[in-house]
Amino acid sequence: MKQRTRELAAGYRISRVIRGGWQLAGGHGAIDRDQAVDDLIAAFDAGLTTYDCADIYTGVEELIGAARAQLARTRGARAAASMHIHTKLVPDLDKLATINRDYIRGIVHQSLKRLGVEQLDMVQFHWWDYSYPGYVDAMGWLEELRHEGAVRNLGTTNFDTLRLAEIIGAGIPLVSQQLQYSVLDQRPARHLAALAAEKGLQFLCYGTVAGGFLSEKWLGQPEPASPLENRSLVKYKLIIDDFGGWDLFQRLLATLAAIGRRHNVDIATVASAWTLTRPQVAAVIVGARNQAHALANAKVMDLVLTGEDLAEIAAIHAESPGVAGDVYSLERDRNGRHGSIMHYNLNDGRT
Ligand SMILES: NC(=O)c1ccc[n+]([C@@H]2O[C@H](COP(=O)([O-])OP(=O)(O)OC[C@H]3O[C@@H](n4cnc5c(N)ncnc54)[C@H](OP(=O)(O)O)[C@@H]3O)[C@@H](O)[C@H]2O)c1
Repeated sequence: MKQRTRELAAGYRISRVIRGGWQLAGGHGAIDRDQAVDDLIAAFDAGLTTYDCADIYTGVEELIGAARAQLARTRGARAAASMHIHTKLVPDLDKLATINRDYIRGIVHQSLKRLGVEQLDMVQFHWWDYSYPGYVDAMGWLEELRHEGAVRNLGTTNFDTLRLAEIIGAGIPLVSQQLQYSVLDQRPARHLAALAAEKGLQFLCYGTVAGGFLSEKWLGQPEPASPLENRSLVKYKLIIDDFGGWDLFQRLLATLAAIGRRHNVDIATVASAWTLTRPQVAAVIVGARNQAHALANAKVMDLVLTGEDLAEIAAIHAESPGVAGDVYSLERDRNGRHGSIMHYNLNDGRT
C-alpha cells in the first residue's frame, strides 16, 4: 500500500496528490461558484486534502477559501485545519527592479484576506528574470513574515539549481520547490535533484498529465494542428515536441496504456504515479475544472508501479533527447518558443 501523504516539514503533512487550482481561474470555461466549492470539498473527501493556488489565479484564492470556510461551518475547525492551501507570490515582471518589503507584505496580506485565514500554509515564490537581483531580498522579507506567523512554510517555484543554491545559502529555510516534472519533462533530475537531496528540499510537481495530453483522449490520434483548445495545451505540446515528437509520444502513450491495463487504471493515473516514484518528489499537482478528473486522480495515491512498469517507461525515455536545460530555463527566454506564450504582469491591478 502506498503512502497517501508525505511530511513536507516537521508536523506538516500534505496529500501526495494536490488539487491544482489554475483551471478554476477562467479561460477554461465558465465557473459555477457553488458547484466549484462542492467539487473542492469532494476532492478533500477523496483524500486530496492539499490545494494549489496563486495570487495571480483570478478568483481562485477566494474560491478555495470559501471551500475551507464551508468545511469549518459544516464539520468544525479541526476538519478545516486539515485542509492545506498552498499559494504563490508572483511579482510582476515590471515590478522586479523596484520591489520592496511593502510590496511583498501587501501580496501576502491580500492572500490572507482572500483565503480568509490568519496564516498561509505555504507561499511559493516565483521570479521572472534573474537579471534583477532582488529575489534573495524578497525571500528574506517572506522569512520575516514566517517569523511573525503570517506564513507557515516557504517554498519556491520554477527556480533553477544555481539560484536555489543561492537562496538556501542565504539561510532561507525552504521546504519545497514547485516545478514541472513528468514522464515528458525530466529536467529536475538533471541538476536540481542532487541539490534538493543534499538540502532536504522536496518537489511539488505540475504538468504530470501534460494538460490532458497524457490520457486516452490522445492515444492513437494524429498530431493536432494549431490552434489548440487552451494555452495549457499549447504549452505542453511544445514539451511533447522537445521530448521527441508526436510519434515517440504516441509510443509512450501506448506503453502507459498497457501498464494501466495491468493495474486497471488509465494513462493519466500511470503518468502521475510515475512522477511520484522520482527522488525528492513529495507530491504531484494535478489540475481539473471539476470533480470528474479530480476524483479520478485520487487513485494515483494507491497505485504502486512495478519494476517491470518502470523499465518499460525507461525504454521509451532512452529514445528521447530529453527537454533541454535546467528547470524552467526554456520558459525564461521571453523571446523563445516556450517563453513567448507566457503572461508576465498578472498581479497588476490587483484588488
Ligand atoms: N508554478 C507554476 O508555474 C505552475 C504552472 C502550471 C501549473 N501550476 C499548478 O499545477 C496545476 C496543474 O498543472 P497544469 O494545469 O499545468 O497541468 P496538468 O495538471 O498537467 O493538466 C490539467 C488538465 O488535465 C486534465 N486532467 C486532469 N486529470 C486528468 C485525468 N485523470 N485524465 C485525463 N485528463 C485529466 C484536466 O482536464 P479537466 O479540466 O477536463 O478536468 C486539466 O484541464 C495547476 O492547476 C496549477 O495549480 C503551476
